[in-house]
Amino acid sequence: MRLATIPRYPLTTLPTPLVRARNLEVALGVPSPRIYLKRDDLTGLAFGGNKARKIEYLLADALAVGATMLVTEGAAQSNHARMTAAASAIAGLRCLLVLDARNGAEVQGNLLLDHLLGAEVRVVPDKAARVAAMERIEDELRATGERPYVIPTGGSVPLGAVAYVAMVQELLVQLMTVSEAPSRVYLATSSLGTQAGLVVGARAYSAPFRPIGIAVEHPVTELILLGTALANATAELVDLEATFAEGDIEVDDRYVGEDYGKATPEGMEAIRLLARTEGVVLDPVYSGKAMAGLLAHIRSGEIEPTGSVVFLHTGGGPSVFGWGRALLA
Ligand SMILES: Cc1ncc(COP(=O)(O)O)c(C=O)c1O
Repeated sequence: MRLATIPRYPLTTLPTPLVRARNLEVALGVPSPRIYLKRDDLTGLAFGGNKARKIEYLLADALAVGATMLVTEGAAQSNHARMTAAASAIAGLRCLLVLDARNGAEVQGNLLLDHLLGAEVRVVPDKAARVAAMERIEDELRATGERPYVIPTGGSVPLGAVAYVAMVQELLVQLMTVSEAPSRVYLATSSLGTQAGLVVGARAYSAPFRPIGIAVEHPVTELILLGTALANATAELVDLEATFAEGDIEVDDRYVGEDYGKATPEGMEAIRLLARTEGVVLDPVYSGKAMAGLLAHIRSGEIEPTGSVVFLHTGGGPSVFGWGRALLA
């Protein structure tokens, strides 16, 4: 497999810790598997998160092709956008973020950090307007003499997903040191790059676990198609002789709630529980919903209580400051 030779611009501090959540196990009040938190909220890069790993590969590629600026898109509180802004600052590139205000665009949390990190921010009203703006952006910037490197939503292209193929190696070494062979790795899944990378990595390194994505948006059938295509393209990029089918991309969409970016009661409960038992901060848009999914699977007995499970904490912390009293109920 070709992985070590893919250029990577170092932005992260790795390995991120793998810690057992003993207080959480006790607080659940039901027979619980041993729960490990893989702390990818601590990757570094302006408050960290899963996107930092992906951007290392994308930034190396951008520099290799002579880009003068990184361009990406997302919701106004996008963690990916914030980390793209930080990476641009480090590499001395300009950064343009096209962000939609479908869930508001108050200048705090990630959006505040985007400005602080020196990104040029264009806020558009909704996702349709964002897609339309992105269609024109490359030509517009080239006309002004820039050489833009456009990173699609969430950095979920094979070159981004590769980061999570590599992360499986890191995790397996850590699991060996605690003599664990977890059956599942839970994570918040959205543009599927993280999950596709994990699925490819799990196959490549014969990992004992299945990645279980907890969806934070609908529709799940589309997400699975996207994830399958991405897993196959990622395997091809790393020269892994493997093919992936829809059944390999396991996504549970029961914890999305009303929509992307809308808090759910069980997500908010999961955030409070983690904070008060483990001193770990999750967020209402991604990691809180993913933890709600994991807790529900434990409480329903879907996960064998005699084994172990990993929760991949993908970050998102900066957005909590926008949720104010809703989080303290
Ligand atoms: C905190 C957090 N968790 C999870 C995800 C989902 O990752 P992916 O888009 O690779 O599915 C994101 C994506 O923006 C995120 O910001």
